[in-house]
Amino acid sequence: PRSYSITLLPGDGIGPEVVSVAKDILSVVGAHEGIEFFYNEMPMGGAALDAVGVPLPEETLAAAKQSDAVLLGAIGGYKWDGNEKPLKPETGLLQLRAGLGVFANLRPATVWPQLVDSSTLKKEVAEGVDLIVIRELTGGIYFGEPRGFGTNDKGEDFGFNTEIYSTFEIDRIARVAFEIARKRQSKLCSVDKANVLEASMLWRKRVNEIASEYSDVQLSHMYVDNAAMQLIRDPRQFDTIVTNNIFGDILSDEASIITGSIGMLPSASVSESGPGLFEPIHGSAPDIAGQDKANPLATVLSAAMLLRYGLGEENAARRIEAAVIETLNKGFRTSDIHSSGMVLVGCKRMGEEVLKSVDSQKPIV
Ligand code: NAD
Ligand code: IPM
Ligand code: MN
Repeated sequence: PRSYSITLLPGDGIGPEVVSVAKDILSVVGAHEGIEFFYNEMPMGGAALDAVGVPLPEETLAAAKQSDAVLLGAIGGYKWDGNEKPLKPETGLLQLRAGLGVFANLRPATVWPQLVDSSTLKKEVAEGVDLIVIRELTGGIYFGEPRGFGTNDKGEDFGFNTEIYSTFEIDRIARVAFEIARKRQSKLCSVDKANVLEASMLWRKRVNEIASEYSDVQLSHMYVDNAAMQLIRDPRQFDTIVTNNIFGDILSDEASIITGSIGMLPSASVSESGPGLFEPIHGSAPDIAGQDKANPLATVLSAAMLLRYGLGEENAARRIEAAVIETLNKGFRTSDIHSSGMVLVGCKRMGEEVLKSVDSQKPIV
């Protein structure tokens, strides 16, 4: 059989609960498709801080780099919120993304017909939404220098960050976005704040430049404040959105709720070579951690993205997606997507139901 090594980073809060579900589903799908997975589970985030004192141990990054793909749950929690920057779980996540060089973060938001009633938007608005946010992941204000704290001449403390993008960084994320748009509805909307920010002015100029290589793709530009509004007013106008690191973070959480729950949104973070990083867009959800309430589907769908974008195993990816759809068709819902008449289940049970659906599938040819 074909075999792959997968680094599992369960992390904190609901991370271990949802990763355990996704791992079982990967294994069973693998068995159906003649794929063998070798898992290497490593500490990361708060769990790593508690175990060895740093949020991303060297061994964890080394294992991730040596594997074929990385599946992450989530990191963070109240316990570590007061930590200084180098000892925050979130710092470990940024180090992991930077260490793997995964500059392109794909965050699809699809309103599944079964979940239209779970959306907080009216049915007429939410129905049929199928968009993807391409978020630049290793640059911008998250990583820009100079940054830090200081004290001004009035004796007031301040904190500061730098939003910075080079042509190289903009061009490569733009090309990824145009390529993806081309395989979808060939509509690309670049979101920026070019009316105010220099980094956005260059962003817009370079995206227009790269557009000449993709004359078949219809390109538009939108300011981020308007985009936030348009996403709720008429989300179906969007096909592919490309944006910087921080706008992509915010807009993808906003897009997620159109689909019913942040617990439904997967992501893939990729580079030009080397292993990809696959994670749900949600966090460690400390408010529901340890209660078997988390929706595991964002992570299960991230495993499908791992198969598709990380390993090129399209059939196995489709098996997972088909099983998720069947499970929703049968009426199983975690509390975040529950509506009247549906069967309320916990995280584990949701996983078991998806597994049953995988097992009852006919071979995909
Ligand atoms: P969050 O995404 O963890 O939670 C926001 C809300 O959504 C909560 O009410 C939570 O219960 C709910 N939710 C999230 N995932 C869910 C799921 N799978 N099923 C059902 N409900 C779900 O965001 P937050 O509360 O702002 O952050 C909590 C911690 O997670 C913080 O430490 C933050 O830094 C961290 N975080 C980590 C990641 C990551 O690991 N990639 C992403 C975002 C936030
Ligand atoms: C996400 C998270 C992270 C981010 C945090 C936890 C560093 O919000 O993956 O969306 O801002 O990228
Ligand atoms: Mn986020």
